[in-house]
Amino acid sequence: MTMPATDLATTVLARCDELAGLTEEPGRLTRRYATPALRAAGDAVGGWMREAGMTVRRDAVGNVIGRREGGPRTLLLGSHLDTVVDAGRYDGALGVLVALAAVERAADLPYAVEVYGFADEEGVRFGTAYLGSGAVVGAPLPLERVDADGVRLADVLRTDPVDARRDPAGLIGYVEVHIEQGPALEEAGAPLGVVTAIAGQTRSTVAFHGRAGHAGTVPMDLRHDALAGAAEWVGTVEAAGAEEAGLLATVGELTVEPGASNVIPGRVNASLDVRHAEDRARRAANERLRARAEEIADARGLRLQWQTVLDTVAVACDPTLSDLLARAAGPDVPRLASGAGHDAVMMSRIAPAAMLFVRCAGGISHHPAESVAHDDVAAAIDATTRFLEEVR
Ligand code: GLV
Ligand code: MN
Ligand code: MN
Repeated sequence: MTMPATDLATTVLARCDELAGLTEEPGRLTRRYATPALRAAGDAVGGWMREAGMTVRRDAVGNVIGRREGGPRTLLLGSHLDTVVDAGRYDGALGVLVALAAVERAADLPYAVEVYGFADEEGVRFGTAYLGSGAVVGAPLPLERVDADGVRLADVLRTDPVDARRDPAGLIGYVEVHIEQGPALEEAGAPLGVVTAIAGQTRSTVAFHGRAGHAGTVPMDLRHDALAGAAEWVGTVEAAGAEEAGLLATVGELTVEPGASNVIPGRVNASLDVRHAEDRARRAANERLRARAEEIADARGLRLQWQTVLDTVAVACDPTLSDLLARAAGPDVPRLASGAGHDAVMMSRIAPAAMLFVRCAGGISHHPAESVAHDDVAAAIDATTRFLEEVR
């Protein structure tokens, strides 16, 4: 180890600030898949990778990958560079930059390292997550999905996504550093934690079709108001989450068509995100919410269209790599499960995967107030460097 972790933490935080300026929307951070802002972030990260002595390439889905040679086997590290809408600056980016700092610091490793800056983990643009890491592990990509402007995923891909596939031969594992995005580490007074498992998630798009009409002339008992039906259903989604321990159910998107104050809503497009540590409980809750949507639609003379766009099972982290990470992170490091999804979910399909969480203030995430302490970032760089020096 040469450079002190505290200096590197200063650099990492300054780079997170710089990336936060690469946004689609002035005044707030939004960096969706395959946008000029994401390309600019990838260019910046690629430049820092080159400065760290890595060779850099962009794969077919737009992931940026820095590689340093070192031996016949390869360790993968990384996280994502895309963000949610009006995001914080650490979700994803911090993990890429901590990995890069640790690789730079740990000289002469007996294996090659690759740091991935994944192009899509959040799934904001096409409604389905993990396009970047999914392509790397050979998961089928939903090429016909369209974004809000009707642009097909197939039309924004650089080349055939099959070209992004990573050969699993010779991989030591995949390690991801990420902010916790919850309050557990802060409550435990711990800067770092080692992840035991990542919860599964089911995401769906749900459309209520009704009949648009004049707000001043169509009698109330003759209406088929798509928004009134969707609103009733959204209430049942929240209630389901509140009633069942461990269930998290969210409608995060709602668009109303045609969308005018004097027109009865003819169509509503909603998203549904369902999570639970137990796969069976998640799937059962999802089915109940679908049945409720159908009942509500029937009762109101609406037509329901339901499409499942993502369904991932809970993933257990690799015990050997996790133990090594825990030793590198210091005595009594907490172990905790992740309710948020991470690229490690996909990467675990081709390599043993482990994750290190960094405490974030108030557990706040997916919000511009996301923040991390300088010393905690230094601790993460230290732990990751120690891990790199121990893993074989
Ligand atoms: C990723 O941030 C997720 O939605 O869990
Ligand atoms: Mn993330
Ligand atoms: Mn996120």
